[in-house]
Amino acid sequence: MGIWLINGKVAGKNNRLSGRHFLIEDGYIAKTLDAKGKVANPEDAKFSGHTVIDLSGKLVSPGFIDVHVHFREPGFEHKETIQTGSLSAARGGFTTVACMPNTRPVIDTVETVEYVLNKAREAGLIRVLPYACITKGELGKELTDFAALKEAGAFAFTDDGVGVQSAQMMKDAMKVAVSLDMPIVAHCEDDTMIAGAPVHEGEFAKRHGLKGIPNEAEAIHVGRDILLSEATGAHYHVCHVSTEQSVRLIRQAKKLGLRVTAEVCPHHLILSDEDIPGLDANWKMNPPLRSPRDVQAVIEALEDGTIDMIVTDHAPHSEEEKARGMQLAPFGIVGLETAFPLLYTKFVQTGRWSLQFLLDKMTHYPAQVFKLPWGSIEEGKEADLTVIDLDKEKEIQPADFLSKSRNTPFTGWSCKGWPVMTMVAGKVVWRETSFNMEKE
Ligand code: DOR
Ligand code: ZN
Ligand code: ZN
Repeated sequence: MGIWLINGKVAGKNNRLSGRHFLIEDGYIAKTLDAKGKVANPEDAKFSGHTVIDLSGKLVSPGFIDVHVHFREPGFEHKETIQTGSLSAARGGFTTVACMPNTRPVIDTVETVEYVLNKAREAGLIRVLPYACITKGELGKELTDFAALKEAGAFAFTDDGVGVQSAQMMKDAMKVAVSLDMPIVAHCEDDTMIAGAPVHEGEFAKRHGLKGIPNEAEAIHVGRDILLSEATGAHYHVCHVSTEQSVRLIRQAKKLGLRVTAEVCPHHLILSDEDIPGLDANWKMNPPLRSPRDVQAVIEALEDGTIDMIVTDHAPHSEEEKARGMQLAPFGIVGLETAFPLLYTKFVQTGRWSLQFLLDKMTHYPAQVFKLPWGSIEEGKEADLTVIDLDKEKEIQPADFLSKSRNTPFTGWSCKGWPVMTMVAGKVVWRETSFNMEKE
């Protein structure tokens, strides 16, 4: 017995939606049927013998893929666990995430990689792919055992949370990574330029007498690492691009045909430092909200393909930690449950992007760049699907989050385009309580 998802819509060229039915069997998409402009009746004999879910015109997208989240386990379970992070992802429409290794202990051994994989299996919700560290302890002094970590199931290598300060260490890392055909994923930040700075070096910092994180602190690493990627041939992926200067360097690297890819977060596409209302640490993240000029640059870079994909950098922290104020609170905001509605409302509803463009940046491109077998809807592929109600309008309310944490600057924002059901390998892992259209 399979599941028929009937009366769904898929995004096509020129912002057109077309009707589609899907038969899911044994976790795979067994069949897709063009609805030919007609609404099917769930009682129709051709669906009998199967579970039927009537999607009533809702959008069906490939499940979203986010290659940059922090699930905090082991060590910081009060912020998030792999189970609550997975639920939060599922509610946001994500079916695959890659989780960052800056836990306690960090993920720098075979045992810790296996620990994350086991926790993900126990949660049994979405696909959680563990990153492993570039350097032991993320201390920048000694490379981890890349071959063993790859063998254990590491997704890629990164010291996210901090930059790799030594150029020689980064070059050595790339040499090993290229021999194993694994990507190096980099949080770009020069430690000598950021001491004690909680926000971007710009208008907001000036107004509040705070030290600022300059654009060069990021771009210097991007430029350095592009040169190292050129020298070694490694696939180099830039985390959370936030500055005009980084964009310029990545654009040039791509023109030269180097193996360089990049990601950007919703908050860096939507907010600038001039939007920060006051000394509220829910607006504090690293890299920080930059100038309006940087925001324009990252939007254009995403549009022209310089930046390949959107990621959330979902970084949960407790209310107590965030209450320490702008200077002392940890960097980071949650993002999984708000990413799609925010971007759909801000860029698709306003006519700037097609729906297809946004979906591709959250599905097709991350899958292509990281050679993942998901991110598209085709017969014969695993049924990782997200159903979205494009007309549903709702305010972002942290109290609704399935994440353990509530640290978002988007409280009270009214958005359209809310996921209502998430399916991983043919199994419904989350659905909006009001969405119950199933017939046996
Ligand atoms: O905002 C951030 N949060 N940036 C980082 O680099 C680390 C992350 C975290 O782990 O909280
Ligand atoms: Zn980072
Ligand atoms: Zn991060």
